[in-house]
Amino acid sequence: MNSPSDVELSRADTERAVEELLRAAGLTAEHAELVRRSLMFAETRGTNSHGLARLRPYLERIARGGVNTRPTLTESVSGAVHVIDADGSAGAVAGMTAVRAAAQAADSHGIGIACARNTNHVGALAFYSAALSEAGLVSIVFANADPIMVPPGGSEAVLGSNPIAIGVPGGGGASQTPLLDMATTAAAHGKIVELSRERESIPPGWAVDERGAPTTDAGRALAGALLPAAGPKGFGLAFMIDLLSAGLAGGSLGGGIVPVADRFDEPQGCCLVVIAIDPAHAAGLDSFTRADRALGDTVRHSRPVDGRAPMVPGEPEAERARRATGAEALTVTDALHQDLLDLLRGWSISPPALVQKVDQDV
Ligand SMILES: NC(=O)c1ccc[n+]([C@@H]2O[C@H](COP(=O)([O-])OP(=O)(O)OC[C@H]3O[C@@H](n4cnc5c(N)ncnc54)[C@H](O)[C@@H]3O)[C@@H](O)[C@H]2O)c1
Repeated sequence: MNSPSDVELSRADTERAVEELLRAAGLTAEHAELVRRSLMFAETRGTNSHGLARLRPYLERIARGGVNTRPTLTESVSGAVHVIDADGSAGAVAGMTAVRAAAQAADSHGIGIACARNTNHVGALAFYSAALSEAGLVSIVFANADPIMVPPGGSEAVLGSNPIAIGVPGGGGASQTPLLDMATTAAAHGKIVELSRERESIPPGWAVDERGAPTTDAGRALAGALLPAAGPKGFGLAFMIDLLSAGLAGGSLGGGIVPVADRFDEPQGCCLVVIAIDPAHAAGLDSFTRADRALGDTVRHSRPVDGRAPMVPGEPEAERARRATGAEALTVTDALHQDLLDLLRGWSISPPALVQKVDQDV
């Protein structure tokens, strides 16, 4: 739902402006296009925490040297396992290199694993899973991040919001294909940044303040830490993701990762693992498609609580992406628009054309 302070920008012109910004900060044209696609993928699916709101810290790290703009990515291969040293490249560059490596190994072996170390923030993991879905592959993607999550019974952040995505063969970001993509914290940190920017409070159960006490104040949550999703279960998942990411890729545990909005002259050193599975090497694509349909139907045709059909993972985002497909306009909040204009002024880049200012709830 749009709000009275939303702004509609020309989508194509916004993409042009974002890519120009990334190039002005120092990325090559090829890398700028990849990062722009990852940000716009998230923005279009309504994953605003990992969309254009990330542009400012990304640009800062690129411009101040924390992102290696001319990286030499190296890869070692053993059977179906690729290990990639991303050489401090932009996250989407490392991520898409890992996607290609895992897909290539799955093609030869039925399964492929690519473990990347020394990357920067990789953004929304659905971007990588959707690419593998389009290639007809099952995917499991996870990454570690700097500490922001308190453990059950603790008051100090020890783990990142370590996200995981699981995708299945089918379409990309706007298709009905199920696609789970989640932080292991109760909410993504970026969502709290976004709510703090909008001066709104956060739901109970998302975060604690500096002293470890529960809070609904977005500002105090940013000074404090996040709670795991579903208590010890989200914590356990985040713990194993950190261990597997660093252990398999030979990179940093979350505790050694440079925070996403700090020390911009240093590479963050995140790790990402991409697992791709070709269902043809298992019970076959038909079996998969039948299971996918049956389970989706079970969920969608189950009894709703308020008249709206229950959804499968990824459906809310896909619905937003479908509505945006072919649309000339991109709706952003006024706060994000102002931030974008400020960045563009700073880099002397012309702003995207305004389609209209939304002046009522729709
Ligand atoms: N790169 C990083 O370091 C990092 C860290 C944390 C999170 N992230 C990214 O943050 C993004 C947001 O994560 P999040 O946990 O806030 O996501 P979220 O809570 O919005 O959604 C989590 C999952 O729940 C599903 N979902 C939501 N509402 C639903 C409903 N009503 N019915 C059925 N399914 C539903 C979504 O489709 C999604 O798969 C993700 O893209 C994630 O990859 C990245």
